[in-house]
Amino acid sequence: MSVPVPTGLAPGAVLGILGGGQLARMLALAAADLGIRCHVFAPEPDSPAFDVAARHTVAEYEDEAALARFADGVDVVTYEFENVPAATAAFLGQRAPLHPGARALAVTQDRLSEKSFVDGLGLAVAPFRAVDSLADLEAAVAALGRPSILKTRRFGYDGKGQIKIAPGTDLADAYEAIGRFPAILEGYVPFEREVSVVAARGLDGAFAAFDVCENEHRDHILAFTRIPANLGRGAAATAIDAARRIGEALGYVGVFAVEMFVLGDGAAERVVVNEIAPRVHNSGHWTSEGAETSQFHQHVRAVCGFPLGSPGSRGRIEMENLIGEAALRWREILGEPGAHLHLYGKRDARPGRKMGHVTRVWTDRS
Ligand SMILES: Nc1ncnc2c1ncn2[C@@H]1O[C@H](COP(=O)(O)OP(=O)(O)O)[C@@H](O)[C@H]1O
Ligand SMILES: [Mg+2]
Repeated sequence: MSVPVPTGLAPGAVLGILGGGQLARMLALAAADLGIRCHVFAPEPDSPAFDVAARHTVAEYEDEAALARFADGVDVVTYEFENVPAATAAFLGQRAPLHPGARALAVTQDRLSEKSFVDGLGLAVAPFRAVDSLADLEAAVAALGRPSILKTRRFGYDGKGQIKIAPGTDLADAYEAIGRFPAILEGYVPFEREVSVVAARGLDGAFAAFDVCENEHRDHILAFTRIPANLGRGAAATAIDAARRIGEALGYVGVFAVEMFVLGDGAAERVVVNEIAPRVHNSGHWTSEGAETSQFHQHVRAVCGFPLGSPGSRGRIEMENLIGEAALRWREILGEPGAHLHLYGKRDARPGRKMGHVTRVWTDRS
């Protein structure tokens, strides 16, 4: 029996996207495949997503007049980044369906609420303590030991806003280094590998997870994602079940990613949840060619209330991020049989900047 689609959306509808980076760009391209038109709202006039969207607005996220015009012209609103201000989400949510909802944003944009939420579901997380002062930090380090990691509660990404507390680290210097912002201290997890689960939840509660993928970071930035992850069946099932429980508890609609650490080997292998991204995720880029449905199509399907697509993988896959000048290799990559190049249309190849990615798929036949 088919489940009725709980919204009236159909091809021809307009999807509003907050944020204009490469994730919004790839969402807009996927939306176009499904006959959905996109209106992208972002403050930066040279946003990569503007090139491929039917409409765009350049305005600040606090500009209520611009937000009202945007919301009135779209059928559903989504976003490509988790730091959407709560007031913006609340304002938009009163005028148009907002998916994922405000709760997903509130929980995931603050590391303390995120860790507490995951812990509250009975899932494994690194031990953590809230840090609002140097005295808190001293007490937290006494409790969790060294090494440990001090992270700002908000706005951290690609390893920014965090510092390792090593045996010789001066705590006052460390607290100063992260800007004395509200923070958490996490116990150090001696992981073997890092993996993530990219999954989707539909408006009707349907759940579909892509295969667990393995992530290799360099200089705190994702460098490679590989499928299949080097992970036993039991741990993979636990990882996917953790994502399912997180999605359900958030009443989530759309694609999300759960980053995890893998500890131990063989029968002792286990996963620890690191963080949740309430959006399409860099570790899901491989799905564009490597899965039966891409994460971008899946997100558009979910937020429009369409049926989810099959998440099955097509083989062994590697996604390589093109960071900074690596993107200058575009001509060579285009000459490589079977390499799928994606460039984000950014002009300056600054160090550390994500300029594009390339995906390689090895099917059973290749
Ligand atoms: N508690 C921890 N123990 C060990 N390594 C960690 C811990 N927290 C973070 N890391 C390392 O730092 C990286 C970035 O941390 P993360 O919390 O994912 O922040 P970001 O928002 O910058 O991605 C992780 O991918 C992992 O390699
Ligand atoms: Mg991370």
